[in-house]
Amino acid sequence: MSQKKILFYDAKPYDQASFEVANAAYRFDFKFLRSHLTEDTAVIAKGYDAICLFVNDHLTASIADILVENTISIVALRCAGYNNIDLHAAYKRLHVVRVPSYSPYAVAEHATALMLALNRKTHKAYYRTRDNNFTINGLMGFDMRGKTAGVIGTGQIGKVLMQILHGFGMTILAYDKFPDRAFAEQYGVRYVELDELYAESDIISLHCPLTKETYHLINEQTINKMKPTVMLINTGRGQLIDSKALVDALRDKRVGAAGLDVYEEESDYFFEDFSTEIVDDDVLARLISFPNVLLTSHQAYFTQEALSQIATTTLRNLQEYFDGKPLPNEICYQCGDTCRKKTEGRCF
Ligand code: NAI
Repeated sequence: MSQKKILFYDAKPYDQASFEVANAAYRFDFKFLRSHLTEDTAVIAKGYDAICLFVNDHLTASIADILVENTISIVALRCAGYNNIDLHAAYKRLHVVRVPSYSPYAVAEHATALMLALNRKTHKAYYRTRDNNFTINGLMGFDMRGKTAGVIGTGQIGKVLMQILHGFGMTILAYDKFPDRAFAEQYGVRYVELDELYAESDIISLHCPLTKETYHLINEQTINKMKPTVMLINTGRGQLIDSKALVDALRDKRVGAAGLDVYEEESDYFFEDFSTEIVDDDVLARLISFPNVLLTSHQAYFTQEALSQIATTTLRNLQEYFDGKPLPNEICYQCGDTCRKKTEGRCF
């Protein structure tokens, strides 16, 4: 049997390294492209057996048409979130598989790192001591113990975060469409309505998926329900927060601090080097300018363990497809999440 050819979009050297290691068990033929998936680059897929996408490759309806015309029938996402895929356009034409779980620890630990750094201002202290400035005025933080954390979205990542914060001795409030009462009991978590979570929390961390319902969940109105000292952490998806409203609230001191691993318009900038160029996104530039904002470039997932798991699961998803087996990690328009209503284990 001939080697299956896989085309990777938006591939970085670290993707290539982790996928080549995992490929020892499969021996697929890889081609790594630096470019994102666009209408122009979609045609390159002609002649390949599958394409592999990351978070900022947007599979729109017109791109789905181009892929189908070029006989692509499977799209493997090397990530968990799938808000970048027009599932309606893909439905019954393109199988879409993802990596539902790779390392919730990676993301939850990064969210914690953002909290601790913002609280104790280590991002500022680092530059002071490098300048031989050993003063500490302005760097005062607060004890995490006894403070209240609000966690929105209590799936895999939210749960790991709550376990970490439980270890810090924090009071934990949570909101989820599908509360896990047994978990809550075990870790002393109290599920509340969003308004109570907003009003009571010293730190709010977002771990729900981006959907029509959660788009701009954090906006002018919801920010006004929070404590003016609140620390907002977003390692979910950028569009969970109305960034312009966040900028206004930071400027007016209605938000105490923000730790952002994701940003609404990140696909234009994140994962690329703009250090010698002008950033023409004024909202991004303003966010970065605040001393109480710590922005990282969608790196919460970026651990050795996560990359290895992502590569292994992605290649297994593809092999299952090529072998005609059920696709447990398929997502489809009908089910929204990992497809559970598939006939014979596949969406179509
Ligand atoms: P998960 O599917 O295990 O958990 C998501 C939780 O959100 C579920 O419990 C679900 O019931 C809940 N939920 C769904 N709709 C909701 C709503 N409207 N309001 C409140 N809760 C709602 O997903 P997991 O693995 O915990 O990941 C969460 C999100 O984190 C992903 O959707 C993805 O966007 C993001 N992520 C970010 C990464 C990064 O590197 N920054 C890496 C991996 C994931």
